Amino acid sequence: MNTTTASIAVEQTKNSRLNEVDFDNLGFGTYISDHMLVAQYDKGQWHEPKVMPFGNLPMSPAMLALHYGQAIFEGMKAFRMKDGKINIFRVKRHYQRMLKSLDRMCMPGMSEELFTSSLEAVVKADEKWIPKNEGCSLYIRPVVFASENKLGVKVSDQYLFVIMTSPVGPYFSKPVRLKVELEYVRAAEGGTGFAKCAGNYGGAFYPTQLAREQGFDQVIWTDAKEHKYIDESGAMNIMFVIDGKLVTPALSSSILDGVTRNTLSQLAKDMGVTVEERKVSIEEIEKSIQNGKLTEAFGAGTAAVVSPVATINIGGKDHHLPAVTDSALMMRLKKKLNDIRTGHEADVHGWNHII
Ligand code: COI
Repeated sequence: MNTTTASIAVEQTKNSRLNEVDFDNLGFGTYISDHMLVAQYDKGQWHEPKVMPFGNLPMSPAMLALHYGQAIFEGMKAFRMKDGKINIFRVKRHYQRMLKSLDRMCMPGMSEELFTSSLEAVVKADEKWIPKNEGCSLYIRPVVFASENKLGVKVSDQYLFVIMTSPVGPYFSKPVRLKVELEYVRAAEGGTGFAKCAGNYGGAFYPTQLAREQGFDQVIWTDAKEHKYIDESGAMNIMFVIDGKLVTPALSSSILDGVTRNTLSQLAKDMGVTVEERKVSIEEIEKSIQNGKLTEAFGAGTAAVVSPVATINIGGKDHHLPAVTDSALMMRLKKKLNDIRTGHEADVHGWNHII
């Protein structure tokens, strides 16, 4: 059946895969929902988006994104609220960040209307895929990439904007072991670290793989000049509780402006907690663990939500953090965030986008 949502044409799948989903064991990114949205950019403008059955797209091996890396993405989430409505969380903030990523990669911007109506259409088309289990959500992955076919090194004149969704559970199943990376670099000041571009992730695989072989889940990236200050953790920003204050590295051109980082900082301020966004040195972290002032460390991200850190390895030495209790700040923040997104607590900051 073909229908129209918010003036976007929808071609319904004839073969839904919904009954293949084990909603009690979702994992992260295992299942892709039935539909995707596709819009093309050509001759200086974005053309009508369309929702269609999820599937392969025609692609030439000469497509510029494959060669020169013009590809950016976002990670967002939709929730089923307690009154049954659908909520896409912090649409505007994700839109604003996507514009910055597009701009840094010489890719064309798009109107907020195109972004928002596209999200609404694709989420609505697969609303049955929104999980109801606690801690689960419909992960939304908008991606934009250069689709012109040419071997010359150039900024593409053609792009595709695709949105797919995936019902997901927690990104990490248990508290993580992190290794402070003192050799390799994710991003340098002036580079693309703040942009959510594909290359940042591809370049991080090798050191992360080495860390995995040593028994760690992720690395903590440090500054490219001196390896002295903490940046972020690749799949998430990093936050600490030191002396009762919420401390996180200040944003720079080498750190992703995480939406969850921003949300948790605001929620902590609302709870009367002092929030410090500043340089955080490895030396400070090591000393604060040793003298007991650092009581919590956690990753913050759309996928990671609030992911407790069990161990931080600095220069080959494991530092174990206290076990996490329900009264920990991170757990109170996580609950508050979840309650706002599902309508159990008032959305005083206007973060929910109800469709
Ligand atoms: C997200 O948190 O949405 C991310 O994009 C991180 C990772 C899954 C790539």
